[in-house]
Amino acid sequence: KKDSKMSIRKIAEHLQKHPRAKVIFVIGAGVSTACGIPDFRSPKTGLYHNLSKLNLPYAEAVFDIEYFKENPKPFYTLAKELYPGTFKPAKFHYLMKLFEDEGRLKRIYTQNIDTLERQASVGDEYIIEAHGSFASNHCIGCDKKFPIETFKEKLNEPKANLPLEFDYASCDACESLIKPNIVFFGEGLPEKFFETWDEDLEWLRKEVDEKHLVIVAGTSLTVYPFASLPSEVPSKTARALFNIGLVGDFKSDPRKSDLVFNGSSEDAAQCLIDELGWSEKFEKLINK
Ligand code: OAD
Ligand code: ZN
Repeated sequence: KKDSKMSIRKIAEHLQKHPRAKVIFVIGAGVSTACGIPDFRSPKTGLYHNLSKLNLPYAEAVFDIEYFKENPKPFYTLAKELYPGTFKPAKFHYLMKLFEDEGRLKRIYTQNIDTLERQASVGDEYIIEAHGSFASNHCIGCDKKFPIETFKEKLNEPKANLPLEFDYASCDACESLIKPNIVFFGEGLPEKFFETWDEDLEWLRKEVDEKHLVIVAGTSLTVYPFASLPSEVPSKTARALFNIGLVGDFKSDPRKSDLVFNGSSEDAAQCLIDELGWSEKFEKLINK
């Protein structure tokens, strides 16, 4: 606990000492659990532990492209529950927005499909949705794209009187399935993810003297290729982890310079706001 607080103090000191240092955030489902969205792998509360009602052969099948083509119902059931618009950003999301406003944000790499970074008004150019989102979709048969509202209507249309196999959002042109552009297991990540990460790595190396930081938060670092990002951070760039539990490269190949906050990302955010003396700015931002 004391070490966690000390890590945050060190980050704040670092940012104050190096006024040109910017932050790259690398985040996952843990930053959104405070918003009422379950993460995937936490015992008891994680989505994958609570999918029994969907009768899946294995939990991750709900996001598996081949399984989806055979049986889309579990995904659509889950999509209804997870649909963005019903959740509000957490403190952590607003803190990232404050980093943007302060000119200290370089990028946010998110695995989350909840679009809460956008909802906190973070600029588009900063956000890399590595696993896609609900923001766009396409028909897996004919590639037709549907407005987000149309997909939502189709998702929520009462089809109780229809047989199970028709209870899904289908394309009005070819009757195939409409799938949000979320990256499923068996699908590739967006080109933009790889391109931007390469650029940002180059930027970190070139501007090594600016002392930029990489903050990883709320992710178990189990799903590749995303999970390899922290290990690719140049050794001269400091890394931080805000997470319940030590994960991924922070556990298997820790660096002396790593700064770890073992606990909730909301507590870490509050602590960092205090240490940076940003409380007033933060209040102003969230009351806007
Ligand atoms: P996981 O559920 O695998 O990991 C969440 C991590 O956040 C765990 O280490 C938790 O201990 C931690 N955690 C939970 N609540 C927290 C909190 N309030 N503060 C800090 N840490 C907290 O979620 P991801 O790593 O994001 O793919 O999962 C990666 C991918 O697996 C997801 O993008 C998803 C899934 O299959 C798709 O949706 C395509
Ligand atoms: Zn179609």
